[in-house]
Amino acid sequence: MTRHFLEVDDLSAPELARVLQLGLEPERPRILAGQTVGLYFEKPSLRTRHSCEVAVAQLGGHPVTFRAEEVGSDEREPLADIARVLAGYHAVLGGRVYSHATLETLAGASAIPVINLLSDLGHPCQALADLLTMQQEWGSLSGHTVAWIGDYNNVARSLCLAAARTGMAMRVASPPGYGPKDADVERLIAAGMPSAPHVTCRPVEAADGADAVHTDVWASMGHEAEADARRRAFEGFIVDDAVMEAAPKAIFMHCLPAHRGEEVAASVVDGDRSRVFPQAHNRLHAFRGLLRFLIEEA
Ligand code: CP
Ligand code: NVA
Repeated sequence: MTRHFLEVDDLSAPELARVLQLGLEPERPRILAGQTVGLYFEKPSLRTRHSCEVAVAQLGGHPVTFRAEEVGSDEREPLADIARVLAGYHAVLGGRVYSHATLETLAGASAIPVINLLSDLGHPCQALADLLTMQQEWGSLSGHTVAWIGDYNNVARSLCLAAARTGMAMRVASPPGYGPKDADVERLIAAGMPSAPHVTCRPVEAADGADAVHTDVWASMGHEAEADARRRAFEGFIVDDAVMEAAPKAIFMHCLPAHRGEEVAASVVDGDRSRVFPQAHNRLHAFRGLLRFLIEEA
């Protein structure tokens, strides 16, 4: 059966550990020699496009990146037909989409692995890179505590599922209405989190004694029309020096792009405890590990 990677919990805990291990291996086996990987984008990207293309090249393959407007998804032809056609050309298909349902349609019609390169619901490739970064920092993941400050968005959802799979505790600080829903908590428990994450409206409370403090933009791609309302709702949710003081040993992480002075203070994202650039570079190693797992071992 074709294995897809639409969210972190598509991998079991041992499989996730194996993906991370493959990502850290210095070997670059040419398992994609003579083959291609299709990379479909409905939204802008810097890190995801480049890390995916480079990972494919490192494994001997050739990436074919294309934008939604070039193929006219569900306008020029149905998405499922596009998936069936592309499955005859490529070894793997990645997609960055507005609606997660688009990925489910692609995966349902595709005989090749489909990878989520960010949807409205999740960003699992980012979570793989986040795990690699924290593992490199601490040597292990289990038993550590991670704070998420801000919107419980695609990045947060995947990070929390990654924590559930790796034995890390999560604390979440979000304004009312922007935190995890009951269905999110149920999925975390199903993924192995022993109990619901601690959820609060106070960033300092979530950060207190944490090993890592993560945040992301207040208005994700697709939420641009809500940007002003969200700026008001998230007032007080900036990760600044006062928040980091509550977690004196913590590293700071952000998937990027970051808005200095909005969700994070410049002194934090550009400070000594920031790991945002190793985190961005780990997108490459994480994606290479994922490709190796899906092609060779899944
Ligand atoms: N972190 C991340 O996914 O960055 P891009 O949107 O630039 O790909
Ligand atoms: N939450 C952000 C992440 C960007 C990498 C967004 O979806 O726009």
